[in-house]
Amino acid sequence: MTAFADVFGREPELGWRSPGRVNLIGEHTDYNDGFVLPLALEREVRVLAAPRGDGLLRLASAQTPGPPVEVVLDGLAPGAVEGWAAYVAGTAWALQGHGVDLVGADVLVDGDVPRGAGLSSSAALECASAGALLALAGAELPLVEVALLAQRAENDFVGMPCGVMDQFASTHGRAGALLLLDTRSLEARTIPFDLAAEGLRLVVIDTRAPHRLVDGEYAARRASCEQAAVLLGVPALRDVDDLGSAMSRLDDDVLQRRVRHVVTENARVLDVVALLESGDVRAIGPLLTASHESLRDDYEVSCPELDVAVEAALSAGAHGARMTGGGFGGSAIALVEASGVDALRRDVAAAFASAGFTEPAFLEAVPADGYRRLQP
Ligand code: GLA
Repeated sequence: MTAFADVFGREPELGWRSPGRVNLIGEHTDYNDGFVLPLALEREVRVLAAPRGDGLLRLASAQTPGPPVEVVLDGLAPGAVEGWAAYVAGTAWALQGHGVDLVGADVLVDGDVPRGAGLSSSAALECASAGALLALAGAELPLVEVALLAQRAENDFVGMPCGVMDQFASTHGRAGALLLLDTRSLEARTIPFDLAAEGLRLVVIDTRAPHRLVDGEYAARRASCEQAAVLLGVPALRDVDDLGSAMSRLDDDVLQRRVRHVVTENARVLDVVALLESGDVRAIGPLLTASHESLRDDYEVSCPELDVAVEAALSAGAHGARMTGGGFGGSAIALVEASGVDALRRDVAAAFASAGFTEPAFLEAVPADGYRRLQP
């Protein structure tokens, strides 16, 4: 018996997969209309589904055993569903709001994107759910629309005011490449990123520190950026082109630092792309580390575990290291020689042990393809 049949007593009709992501650089720039540079991971969420004729969604998760969560498709509204099932129900709600005529379904969620690790398991779940629900309804949408509707599910149904990076990476990811996304125009370009050919690795350090206050603090950062843009008379902080003059026009030291992070981070994304395109991959290291310092000191979204991970990775010889994702826990990334991976893992684990932190977990970030149908 498959896990699906165990729960629902029949086989699934189809399935969809969509991956988690890491962001190489460009953090907290997406909701400022800036640039981001994520890659889709080999870790993914898979959603298996079979249609139902009664307009019910029955949602089960292989990672959260228990009876299926039942929701009525016609009665979906923000606040109606909680926990992991809200990401699936919210996606159904967003698709319906876009005019897609959905059918009821039995749904099983499975996958290997660690939750709470800052690797966007929620975006992967939204996008894989969108794929499965659309396919059951016999509908298709442009990829950009899928990403935007998944973001709407998270913004307006789950209540997390995220930008579009995670959903975009999950839907548009390409094996062997980073995605340079302009979050204003939604134009994306793939940037080849073959670290193995360079003798390099991108190690993900999952600090396993719980996301502390992440939603409230994230919303507060976003609100500060919007406030600063209004005070500066620009549509978004992406439009600040003279940082010195912008800072001198803001009285508040906190707002000054928030603006400095966004403006310098956005520039770092383009600097990293230029270095990668010139073939000088190792030279991006200092920019990664500068990004971490800016997120730690100016944007104040790091935490002790992320700082220790970055410091230990750098002491172990990484070319650069930084927190990735929203912050306040989750994961850091380190760019390191392939020959230095074992030492890095050992040294980071030792630094965590001596700081009294939970043992970290490690994985390698290898760019993978995004959103696609599961082959039976
Ligand atoms: C979270 C959000 C993204 C982005 C990052 C920070 O992952 O979901 O939209 O804002 O934080 O870069």
